[in-house]
Amino acid sequence: MSFSEELLNKIKKEADIVKIIGEYIKLEKKGANFVGLCPFHPDTNPSLSISPAKNIYKCFSCGAAGNVFTFVQNYEHVPFSQAVRIVAAKCGVTIDADSGLNEGPNLSKYYEIMQKATAFYEFYLKNTNDGKIALSYLHSRHLDDEIIKRFRIGLAPAAMDLLYRSLLNDKVQPLNMIEVGLVRSGKEYYDVFRNRIMFAIEDLLGNIVGFSGRVYQKSDLKEAKYVNSSENIIFKKGQLLYNYKNALNEIKSANRVFVFEGFMDVIAAYRASILNTVATMGTALTQQQIKALNKVTNNVTLCYDSDFAGVEATKKAIHLLNQAKFNVSVVRFPDELDPDEVINKYGIDRLKQLLSNEAITGIDYLYELEKKNLLVADINSVEAFKQKIFEYMQYYRSQVLNERYLKQMAKDLNTSIESLQADFKNTPLKSSFMQLDTDHQEVVDFKTKITTKPRKKTPKLKFSIAERGLIRQIYWSKDNCLRAQSVLGPIFVLPKQRDLLYSLYDYYQIYPDMDEQIYKSRLTPEMLDLLVDILKDTKEPFIELNEIFDLISQYNNEKVTENVATSFIEEPSIDKLKQISQLKKSTIKFKGSDNND
Ligand code: CTP
Ligand code: MN
Repeated sequence: MSFSEELLNKIKKEADIVKIIGEYIKLEKKGANFVGLCPFHPDTNPSLSISPAKNIYKCFSCGAAGNVFTFVQNYEHVPFSQAVRIVAAKCGVTIDADSGLNEGPNLSKYYEIMQKATAFYEFYLKNTNDGKIALSYLHSRHLDDEIIKRFRIGLAPAAMDLLYRSLLNDKVQPLNMIEVGLVRSGKEYYDVFRNRIMFAIEDLLGNIVGFSGRVYQKSDLKEAKYVNSSENIIFKKGQLLYNYKNALNEIKSANRVFVFEGFMDVIAAYRASILNTVATMGTALTQQQIKALNKVTNNVTLCYDSDFAGVEATKKAIHLLNQAKFNVSVVRFPDELDPDEVINKYGIDRLKQLLSNEAITGIDYLYELEKKNLLVADINSVEAFKQKIFEYMQYYRSQVLNERYLKQMAKDLNTSIESLQADFKNTPLKSSFMQLDTDHQEVVDFKTKITTKPRKKTPKLKFSIAERGLIRQIYWSKDNCLRAQSVLGPIFVLPKQRDLLYSLYDYYQIYPDMDEQIYKSRLTPEMLDLLVDILKDTKEPFIELNEIFDLISQYNNEKVTENVATSFIEEPSIDKLKQISQLKKSTIKFKGSDNND
């Protein structure tokens, strides 16, 4: 984000969060807070709570939470920078033209560099000996020359800095090469992508903004299958959809879009002459992507892989798309195959058939998914199944859906609709579903700690999630990493995650930004597994960095306070009392730092 922290803080200070959110939804005062109907899920009971003191909002039903900027961002479906401008305008802070947004503070220079890089990779694929090997790999995967040309596929040389030198000859500034994520500087400048087949990635407007590079040769090195451009001024993975621009007309005329997990699937569908396709590149669907889809169609067919991650991503996407009023359907691929593999195993016609005839509605998909775990003979399993379906019914609050689910359940459970209905009525509202639990503010109470057993503590799980969130946020960002290091220091953390944390501290001592190959080569297989697990987890709530620092310090304080308190009972001393009150203060002081994210 190109706004200065100073400016963001200034706007935040000026902005009255209650007034601004109040312009979008009706609010009522309740104690120190304000409440209203949450706009981010179908809400009938006001479950959105706004805390003017903390300058945040939080929905206790769907888990939506954030500050005044994220509210506007999510409500208006605009990029963060746009949200900042809207808020600034509302509270009369002026932003000069060149800070932040102005979406074109001439990015064309960067797009040109990406065009040059693409042409370079294409040339290298077509005209070199390495290229011959890469081409035969591509051909073996049925990507013919027409596809290679259309999807702008190329090859990055294995040499250290061929792209760098070639761009330099072309009068491109090294700084700009770094900015767009093509080059890094260590002792010397070197290319980020080496020895990989390169897929050019366009933004929604068709500008090439990044690359994904795939390994194509067997190697002993434990290399990631894909390396992607890191997030930068032009490459924002959550804001683009692979193939969107190319597919626009096809999507409009078919009034449907197929959403895949990866670009290879888009290319596979292309082989089957299915052109109204996009891919989210292995990430969960974002609001910005949903907004882009909304412009061209309201019929979405989700075609994610049927492995665990794919199923989870599908569930989440169904909820988001339903909220955005899309008609959602889902294709289930056989044998955990992806579309590309379906073609290779069963042929082009089978893929066509799956996509055009065998999609089921999102609602049916959710039901079927739960039904997979159902054992009608086992009462516990029946109850669990019922609970889960009731949760969906509570969540969607739609008569049509309720009727459909109840009918189907009656059939599957061999019982009457009436008794199911009665059970449903008696089911207490369960709010765990889709809820991101951010309710973590727990002040350490020294008195109760020494007189009684410690009451509620920050649950370890929540703390662990905070740590995982921390790793995700410092992984790509040296700034965040340095901040964590200076704020948290050598604080107590869960041992395995601590190893990762420290390895990141160490790494960023030396390197200016993340080179996954270098960094990962320093990890043990166990650490690598943990890292992969942490990075891919999109189900965990996003917690702001300061809040993470709070949580971790708080947990740490609780641990220390507990120990001191125990020893106080055994052997009371003024020093220990002082120490405990000191610990409590530091927690409280920390929470005051809410403003500078
Ligand atoms: N992805 C990634 N990094 C990885 C693996 C995957 O960024 N290490 C992203 C890529 O954008 C990829 C998408 O996730 O397009 C889907 O991944 P996957 O299903 O593993 O790849 P496939 O599309 O099946 O690619 P291939 O057939 O070449 O293995
Ligand atoms: Mn594949």
